[in-house]
Amino acid sequence: MAPGPGKRFLKFSGLRSPRKSFASVSGTVHDGGEMSQSPLIIAIDGPAASGKSTVAKRVAAALGIVFVNSGAMYRAFTWWVLQNGIDPGDTSAVRDLLARTEFACGEEDGIGTIAVAGVPMTRHELAASDVNAAVSPIAAIPEVRERLVSEQRRYASARGVAMEGRDIGSVVFPETPHKFYIDASPEVREARRRAEGIEDSIAKRDRIDSSRKASPLVVSGDALIVDSSDLSADEVVDAVLAAIREKMGD
Ligand code: DC
Repeated sequence: MAPGPGKRFLKFSGLRSPRKSFASVSGTVHDGGEMSQSPLIIAIDGPAASGKSTVAKRVAAALGIVFVNSGAMYRAFTWWVLQNGIDPGDTSAVRDLLARTEFACGEEDGIGTIAVAGVPMTRHELAASDVNAAVSPIAAIPEVRERLVSEQRRYASARGVAMEGRDIGSVVFPETPHKFYIDASPEVREARRRAEGIEDSIAKRDRIDSSRKASPLVVSGDALIVDSSDLSADEVVDAVLAAIREKMGD
């Protein structure tokens, strides 16, 4: 996706910063005159296969916070819709199922986990090609977004997170100062998915994700845009960590 007018667009070729762990993963805030700690929230958005998962995972590990793939939550619910034999285009049946579905978000080794209706999700279910095909229309349903956004906020109220998705900086955590938009050309993204052996229609999902009415994929005005097309994952991670450190006055 091309950055909108007036956006900061940075190519980080050659930029390096020494890798080190943060001593603290919280930001200090004033709350009613008292000092309190709010968990650190890193928002990482971008289109499908832009490399944002890899980056968010490594950034979370470097900071000692939890990596959360919000797309996995939309995929998990999509899997459940298909499992129940519901047509993803039948919005009212999807809404009914949503109302009677429990989500349980947890953590394992610094990575967020999700169970739907008591079923723990694995990569196998989440990356299935029928899920790939149905997830964008399901994620466009406003009630689905409201519900999952509230789960995401609840989760992050209790721990620091590096959360990746489409609307993390724009809608889920608009107040965090740590917002990133990881981009890459459509050709590079298609090639990355093929190399993973995953059948995915990137261009079609881009179109649906960017044009839907409810929380479309947009670049937050205050996000730092990183084009990862010609960069290694390490270079992108270093750039993101350097920007976080700068904001935290480290
Ligand atoms: O990141 P991903 O490709 O696994 O996401 C799967 C789908 O979920 C994607 O097509 C759009 C949707 N999604 C979303 O609408 N909002 C998010 N925060 C994350 C993903």
